Amino acid sequence: MSLEGQRCLYVVVLLIHTVTGAGEAPSTSPSPVSSSTTLKADQNELTVTFPPLDDFYGNPPEKHFGTENNTIVTSQTGSTALLPCVIRNIGDGIVSWIRRKDYHLLTVGLTTYSSDQRFQAIHLQHSEDWTLKVKFVQKRDAGIYECQVSSHPPTSIFLRLDVVEARAQISGPTEKYLKPGSTLRLQCSVVQTTEAPAFVFWYHNSRMINYDVERGINVTTDPAQRLSDLLIPAASVSHAGNYTCVPNNAVPASIYVHIFNGENPAAMQSSSPSFVYCFRFHGLLCTILSIAHFIIR
Ligand SMILES: *[C@@H]1O[C@H](CO)[C@@H](O)[C@H](O)[C@H]1NC(C)=O
Ligand SMILES: *[C@@H]1O[C@H](CO)[C@@H](O)[C@H](O)[C@H]1NC(C)=O
Ligand SMILES: *[C@@H]1O[C@H](CO)[C@@H](O)[C@H](O)[C@H]1NC(C)=O
Repeated sequence: MSLEGQRCLYVVVLLIHTVTGAGEAPSTSPSPVSSSTTLKADQNELTVTFPPLDDFYGNPPEKHFGTENNTIVTSQTGSTALLPCVIRNIGDGIVSWIRRKDYHLLTVGLTTYSSDQRFQAIHLQHSEDWTLKVKFVQKRDAGIYECQVSSHPPTSIFLRLDVVEARAQISGPTEKYLKPGSTLRLQCSVVQTTEAPAFVFWYHNSRMINYDVERGINVTTDPAQRLSDLLIPAASVSHAGNYTCVPNNAVPASIYVHIFNGENPAAMQSSSPSFVYCFRFHGLLCTILSIAHFIIR
């Protein structure tokens, strides 16, 4: 074979090699193929993570209560009670309030059905809350109330209204015995409250004495703490009598104050605790007499 012929054969072999090499290419390089299947699998997984379209367009979001069932609301007499009823995704449902004690229909939507106009449904546009408002709460309002949403079947939650009666309380015994010139201090607290009092009046017999500074009387009231103090730094006989603490929103409390010098038998006229003070101020004979008096009564 001539050199020319050898070169020609070489080129042909090279060509064949190149051609077969190119033909082998898919089988010798499997990685792009496998990576492309992996990619497909990824895409599949990705597709699977999308929620089915039904959930977007099929069922509307479920209606449910945002207020806990069997919630208890406590209010004091005379105040305004608010019974919450939050309903999510209410749709075209209508909310009714029913008093369970007598199955009395109170409100439907925003309309009050009860002849008792103290009941009112409160609902701001676009809010989810349908609160029942009860004004001037009375003891008889205590009980179970049903917040019902119209649907098939209707669903309800039940709330309990507890009514407490706020009352004033003067610390210490209901009668107090003092010597002239000593300090009279009365502390009145308002208990069983859900609302702070707006004001507390003090009465000495029938006279309101909150502002009787010139008569030596000092009243300080802390509504947030539900406390009111009456202070008379130097009590005189004219300060004796009936003291009453009258918060604006609670039942009043009274205490009787005796101011007497050594010879005053005031203590003997009063009831049970008198002999204790009798003993302290007047000695044994007074004590015996007052005990005898107490037993005879
Ligand atoms: C609330 O509780 C009552 C029983 O106390 C029950 O009959 C009612 O189905 C409950 N409501 C909801 C929405 O779970
Ligand atoms: C009244 O009493 C309070 C403390 O209880 C005291 O701070 C205040 O100065 C007194 N006011 C008068 C006029 O005595
Ligand atoms: C004190 O006054 C109050 C209120 O006026 C009255 O209810 C109470 O009976 C009186 N107490 C005494 C011992 O007089």
